[in-house]
Amino acid sequence: LDPVSVIGRKRDGGELSTPQIDAVVAGFTAGTVAPEQMSALAMAILWRGMTRREIADWTAAMIASGTRMDLSGLCRDGRALATVDKHSTGGVGDKITLPLTPLIASYGLAVPQLSGRGLGHTGGTLDKLEAIPGWSAEVSPDALREQLERVGAVICAASADLAPADRKLYALRDVTGTVASIPMIAASIMSKKIAEGTGALVLDVKVGSGAFMTEYDDAHELAATMTELGADAGVATSALLTDMSSPLGRSAGNALEVTEALEVLAGGGPADVVELTLALARAMLAAVGRDDVDPAEHLTGGQGMDTWRAMIAAQGGDPAAPLPQAAHREVIVARDSGYLSGLDALAVGHAAWELGAGRSVPGAAVSAGAGVTWHAGIGDAVQAGAPLLTLHADDPARFAAARARLADAVTVSTNRPAVAASRVLGR
Ligand code: URA
Repeated sequence: LDPVSVIGRKRDGGELSTPQIDAVVAGFTAGTVAPEQMSALAMAILWRGMTRREIADWTAAMIASGTRMDLSGLCRDGRALATVDKHSTGGVGDKITLPLTPLIASYGLAVPQLSGRGLGHTGGTLDKLEAIPGWSAEVSPDALREQLERVGAVICAASADLAPADRKLYALRDVTGTVASIPMIAASIMSKKIAEGTGALVLDVKVGSGAFMTEYDDAHELAATMTELGADAGVATSALLTDMSSPLGRSAGNALEVTEALEVLAGGGPADVVELTLALARAMLAAVGRDDVDPAEHLTGGQGMDTWRAMIAAQGGDPAAPLPQAAHREVIVARDSGYLSGLDALAVGHAAWELGAGRSVPGAAVSAGAGVTWHAGIGDAVQAGAPLLTLHADDPARFAAARARLADAVTVSTNRPAVAASRVLGR
């Protein structure tokens, strides 16, 4: 393989053949295609795009760079267990995986939720759960099967051998301005989800300022591309498009979001988090032929919470332990009276990151207690001088940078804004 000719072909708008894609992805994984060559190819793909066939080949090559897990044959009490998973393209305050995974498992299904850590302004599910004393993200393949059969719910770190080409390529895209490519995002997400071995998958594709896709049409194209990739690989895949122009729920931060997830599992919690949890739960249940049940019943009935406790305990966590809190708080009050008509998701995500909830380099430590809580949702009345946001940090020196990020994040209007009835924008 001559990587330069492959780069040149894509640069000039040509279509790459299956052998070219296989060779370039395998070569990059093995180290014979240099990072600067892969960066150039990623930029050419970002500008020129890929055909559906190229995207499918690119996805298959990334799956083939590692091990494809086999979750077939799972059973409990002699009955086969269906597997179903959810993936969100990432948003600010998006803690839905936490209540959703045990909720679905409480219906006798297996949910293999292989997750990542956060980088930049969106939080990582594993970082959130690591706020729970004792909890470990590391689960071996044998322990994963055992926990799926016994508890049904597992949220854990993906093994290094799951689509390693994607891991390497994503790190490169992150530092070369080449993340925002629909073909590469679709292939990146779906290679990991197909390699994970789930039988069915529901995608939560976010749209708005806090998401990769700020425009609905782009998010729709991403959803359609991923749904087709899933179907081609034998994974029953469906997608919801959901609003991420304002952050989800009332908090962004690790322990803060676990607290909110526990409220939902206890039958309460913010209305938008409950709505999205139930919308995704219904789609997951429908994907495995269980549309006979109403998932709201296992939130109010406590079965989701029971499965949460079993899931946390199975990974060494103490579900009854108090969660860590940040040492310092600072309150931001409303400047004007009126109605909250805007709270910018990206700004809130950046503020939480400045406070210590996220990381800027892979592997860095995060603060369990740090983050942002907001005391009003879109459309709520606010009073000048009343608390609007609370900042939480272990180090008070972080407050200034977070305040700066939030300077233009809040819009208060004199008239009550039209509030969308639902976060679900489309399917
Ligand atoms: N999430 C991923 O896993 N990959 C991308 O490319 C973007 C978001």
